[in-house]
Amino acid sequence: MELDHCTWPEVGAYLKKSTGILVPIGSTEQHGPNGLMGTDSICSKLTACAAADKVNALVAPTIPVGIAQHHMGFSGTMTIRPSTLVLLIKEWVFSLAHHGFEKFFFVNGHGGNIATIGAAFSEIYGERSLAAEGDNRPDLRCRQLNWWESPAAKKIVRELYGANEGMHAACSEVAVTQFAFPEHIKNVVLDPPVAPGPNRFTDAPDFRRKFPDGRIGSNPSLATPEAGKRLVEAAAGDIADAYTKFIES
Ligand code: NI
Repeated sequence: MELDHCTWPEVGAYLKKSTGILVPIGSTEQHGPNGLMGTDSICSKLTACAAADKVNALVAPTIPVGIAQHHMGFSGTMTIRPSTLVLLIKEWVFSLAHHGFEKFFFVNGHGGNIATIGAAFSEIYGERSLAAEGDNRPDLRCRQLNWWESPAAKKIVRELYGANEGMHAACSEVAVTQFAFPEHIKNVVLDPPVAPGPNRFTDAPDFRRKFPDGRIGSNPSLATPEAGKRLVEAAAGDIADAYTKFIES
């Protein structure tokens, strides 16, 4: 159930049963010639919502833009500073905590966000750690899980894509967006079929030089909506299990 689709009395009723919430976090960045700009946000939201449905949990609005400075050499990419993302995560958490939410399970769709999400959690915990004695701030707990690290989803990726999966504009994430939005599937010839492989990168010009069409090591022409459906179901099962353990811990 999405917070966006609830009324305030419904949220109040939910809080009487649970203080947990899932928060999808993505990015708006290029995903090669056939991948959508919103791939990371779509994947995190879809897997979080599918997991939430299994355990009757609530899903907060998606944080749709992340740390994507290295993709700025490609039209349409947006990026925010790590310090901005830390603030956004804190505002999401503290505004929900004001109403009684205490456990925040972030479902992440973008590797570039991982370190900054961790930094935001340190700031959130630090506010309580450094509070004056007698300050009765709530006991907040935060967790992050990258949807693509779901063991069940990884098994499907190995079976379907092997070495063609790649590191960015990966077959799996493109497949998930094709399942979500079949009307936006792009029929594009990828040349070369498998993009140049993993390599270190720094800024946007460096990334564009090394990965000219935006992909890293992938052949996302192999993506299908059917595979996307399987991946979402597999990831949702693992996310739901991890969320339940987190809530019970
Ligand atoms: Ni991605």
